[in-house]
Amino acid sequence: MIIKRAFFTACAMAALATAQAQTPKVYTIEADKVKAHIEPTMYGIFFEDINLAADGGVYAELVKNRSFEFDSHLAGWKEQQKNGGKGSVAVIDRTAERPENAHTIKVNVENNTGSFGLSNEGFRGMGIKKGEGYSFTVTARKPAGSLVKLIVELHNAKGAVIGTGTLTPTSADWKKYNVKFTATATENKASLYVWLKGKGSVDLDMVSLFPQHTWKNRPAGLRADLVQKLYDMKPGFLRFPGGCIVEGRDLVNRYQWKKSIGDIDKRENIINRWNMEFKHRPAPDYYQTFGLGFMEYFMTAEDIGASPLPILNCGMACQFNTGQLVPLEELDPYVQDALDLIEFANGGPDTKWGKLRADLGHPKTFNLKMLGVGNEQWGDQYIARWKIFTKAIKDKYPYIKIISSVGPSPDGDDFNKLDKFFRGMNADILDEHYYRAPKWFLDNAKRYDNYDRKGPKIFAGEYAAQSVAIASPDNKNNWECALSEAAFMTGLERNADVVNMASYAPLFAHVDGWQWTPDLIWFDNLRSYATPNYYVQQLFSLNKGTDVVPLLKDGEMVSGQDGAYATASIDKKTKELIIKFINSTDKAQPVSFNISGAAAYQKTAVVTTLGNYKKDAENSLDAPKAVSPVKSTMIVSGKSVKVTVEPATFKVIRMKMI
Ligand code: AHR
Repeated sequence: MIIKRAFFTACAMAALATAQAQTPKVYTIEADKVKAHIEPTMYGIFFEDINLAADGGVYAELVKNRSFEFDSHLAGWKEQQKNGGKGSVAVIDRTAERPENAHTIKVNVENNTGSFGLSNEGFRGMGIKKGEGYSFTVTARKPAGSLVKLIVELHNAKGAVIGTGTLTPTSADWKKYNVKFTATATENKASLYVWLKGKGSVDLDMVSLFPQHTWKNRPAGLRADLVQKLYDMKPGFLRFPGGCIVEGRDLVNRYQWKKSIGDIDKRENIINRWNMEFKHRPAPDYYQTFGLGFMEYFMTAEDIGASPLPILNCGMACQFNTGQLVPLEELDPYVQDALDLIEFANGGPDTKWGKLRADLGHPKTFNLKMLGVGNEQWGDQYIARWKIFTKAIKDKYPYIKIISSVGPSPDGDDFNKLDKFFRGMNADILDEHYYRAPKWFLDNAKRYDNYDRKGPKIFAGEYAAQSVAIASPDNKNNWECALSEAAFMTGLERNADVVNMASYAPLFAHVDGWQWTPDLIWFDNLRSYATPNYYVQQLFSLNKGTDVVPLLKDGEMVSGQDGAYATASIDKKTKELIIKFINSTDKAQPVSFNISGAAAYQKTAVVTTLGNYKKDAENSLDAPKAVSPVKSTMIVSGKSVKVTVEPATFKVIRMKMI
């Protein structure tokens, strides 16, 4: 074994030495010739509640079906008894009184001995950490004379108690109660038990358990580790809430932002449209509580330094599903939702919706600059609705840039028709989507080289290389896909005068609850890991610079010659030259960059290398950094940089001008 490894090491070293001995390919960089400005929004995030991204994911609520609003009202809950305890649970319908959160439960305890109660299974279990605080809340009322106290327990997968607290409902009116306690052990698949002790009955609603440690430690907030990964990308924008979820499978189940703000117990729950979309990945228990609603989206965007980019339903349900349409003469409420959203984000406290934002705790405006009209729509019906929306928005808010869909495909009749129409209308920004094979990404790195420089800007709004096929459950977040995306992204950046925004999609996936793969970040109930694709996105985002400068080989842009893809930019703020180079081949490539147009460079450049992995290399919860960037330094001699780029490698070189 040792001999074998030594042999391989010797071979690898010999290969590298051979590469180094080869004459390097010469690339030229003209550091003083700005070709295009790179928008601060260039690399961002696409968020959609798919794969348990929100409920069961970044929204840190641990209780599933906390308000008993699933179609099967006790889904996720189980009656429990021990030591002879007896009781019953009934679902009460209060639609007339509270249509938006109609169901509660009445729990009757029949005897004073033993315990009776309910357990909740969480979202594929609950992630509990030893030593961390948990906050249990419940809305309850009890009839006069009823003497029931609630004992709350966290159980590990074997049934041992790993945290407990007690509270006693005292009021005959609905009242919120809270108890906090500390967990004594770590468990990925914990469950919550609520025991009722005493005799009598109690009505319960909004049974909730949150970790106290959340992003910015906001009560009932977001999972800190997951938001941290978004923050670490330094994203230029946050697109929300999707995705097809904007459209809904039918119009009743479309995303309505006004129902996603304000009191948490008044946010009407609906089914998640990904619930049964794929028969091979059914998730019948997937609903939307909207605990992560528009206020939280705007605040998260602000927290992570991203421009908010809401996408609104334009009167069309998902065209892959029912394709329901709102008649044009009934479109007003939809358009009004868009106008009101802009006022909610940007209006002063003297406006109706701006005042609501202030009342919800955010007097400062959210500085909304862009809005998506429809998600992934196509056809004449879209054009008709788009015209009405656009006129209304531009009449009132001419400064808002409208994101327009050119459909689910980056080519074909539907795409061509919309592309032509929007160019004719001088539309602001077109949202292109590509879920294609890695080869497509390599072959299309030149896609934007010949786009009309005076036409609409491009938002590469959803993309991901598919190792097998779109929607295949066998797609992997492997190195081959990530490297092809990196190659393609050199073409986005090189054309930053046309392409203003780009985001990988989808963003999050729960390892036990996903419907769609590949995804940028995977997690279970306790841990998360960034994929190779994440590191590619992150490297582009952290190293975008402010302006593109020419990087040429024999006078041509570098987009696939000898398997190389490259782009260069300068950062006017930090006074740096940034080179991004992808070697997509399986041979090391010695390269030399000859730079003109800057006085001089510091002697040491910082190099970040992501690569030299096998095509099928992936990260995982247990090996989260198997594919991850490595930093080093290199010597700059005068205005020339020589480096050997390893096989299948993405390198970023940052040089400081002096
Ligand atoms: O990212 C998954 C889905 O792909 C999005 O919801 C939709 O816009 C696209 O079809």
